[in-house]
Amino acid sequence: MAYDDTDFDKVIPRQGTGSLKWDGAHAHFGGEVLPMWVADMDFAVPRIVIADLQKRLEHPIFGYPSNGPDMLQAADDWMAKRHGWRPEPGVTGMVSGVVPALFAAVRAFTQPGDPVIVMPPVYPPFMTAVRKNARELLLVPLQNNGAGVYEMHWAALENAVRNAKLLLLCSPHNPTGRVWTASELQRLGALCASAGCVVVSDEIHADLSHAEHTPFPALFPRSVLLTSAGKSFNIAGMGGGIAILPDPELRQRFHDEIHRSQIHQINTCALTAMTSAWRHGAEWQTALRGYLADNASFMGEYLTHALPAVVYRRPEFGYLAWLDVHRYGSDETLARRLRQTRLGLNPGPSFGPGGEGFVRLNFATPRSVLERGLERLQQTLLG
Ligand SMILES: Cc1ncc(COP(=O)(O)O)c(C=O)c1O
Repeated sequence: MAYDDTDFDKVIPRQGTGSLKWDGAHAHFGGEVLPMWVADMDFAVPRIVIADLQKRLEHPIFGYPSNGPDMLQAADDWMAKRHGWRPEPGVTGMVSGVVPALFAAVRAFTQPGDPVIVMPPVYPPFMTAVRKNARELLLVPLQNNGAGVYEMHWAALENAVRNAKLLLLCSPHNPTGRVWTASELQRLGALCASAGCVVVSDEIHADLSHAEHTPFPALFPRSVLLTSAGKSFNIAGMGGGIAILPDPELRQRFHDEIHRSQIHQINTCALTAMTSAWRHGAEWQTALRGYLADNASFMGEYLTHALPAVVYRRPEFGYLAWLDVHRYGSDETLARRLRQTRLGLNPGPSFGPGGEGFVRLNFATPRSVLERGLERLQQTLLG
């Protein structure tokens, strides 16, 4: 399929590709919907990534890959180029995905029953990583100022870190749209360091930040950074990720755990795609960020005119809009209406406490599709 990889207006049908967002929507929502839920993008990946994959596929042997030195070098170079911080040689390692690594981090740094801090509303696996590993979920909800601006709850955190050995940070924060500032991260890190609480920072959305993003271990080396090229280059379905642990003791504990749970490897295609994306994808990603920023503005203008009682704060990164729709009815009413208007959104309550009255809308889609989605949202909310 020939395509212009920065023609983000082009609608590329995804039905029949085994996509969770499109093909899986029927089972998930109990019927056909316009899917604006799962966090992947309806955009083609950079052409160079496809070309590098094709080149690899031309070699007809797919034995076990080596331990990915090219990919790890590409990851470190990307971190330095995109986020201005170069990890020391040897501290970046492979994991089979960011979520498996999050689960492994819980096991590596805590014992069953230990409290682990999570700040909802947040990407749901943060909470399941704690619960499924039989740790105590210590929720310290973010504070919303009512206009959609979220901050950490400093007073509650000060209390919580006294008990917890681990804090799972989403940086930038899905779904609230925040890119934490260096001074917020500094304050959080200082608080955790003084209490001996390890911070695991999931930075998978960082590349799509519009504001400056600070990698957590650049400030506090005794921490863990998890990321991948999955979100920001739209190759999440390939799997794979990296874990950066500058601290030797934490690195050893994490290394032991990912080997115990056998999540320390990445398949050949993912290695090829991630290496290619990080090496050659910068220009494409800059164009993508521009398109996403324009979609965010388009959405803001639409909502201001059509649905002024929706509280929408333009996200500081990426493509996830966190919409406060509580003025239009209860979560139950909203769920019923969404089924009628056939719009597939993530319900706010699935992101934990503080998600009531919200929905998350994925706007990584051509503008014409976004417009259709917003029309359906209007029908949904105005009944
Ligand atoms: C914050 C966050 N972390 C991790 C993931 C998924 O990571 P992976 O596919 O590497 O397991 C997502 C996907 O939406 C996410 O939003």
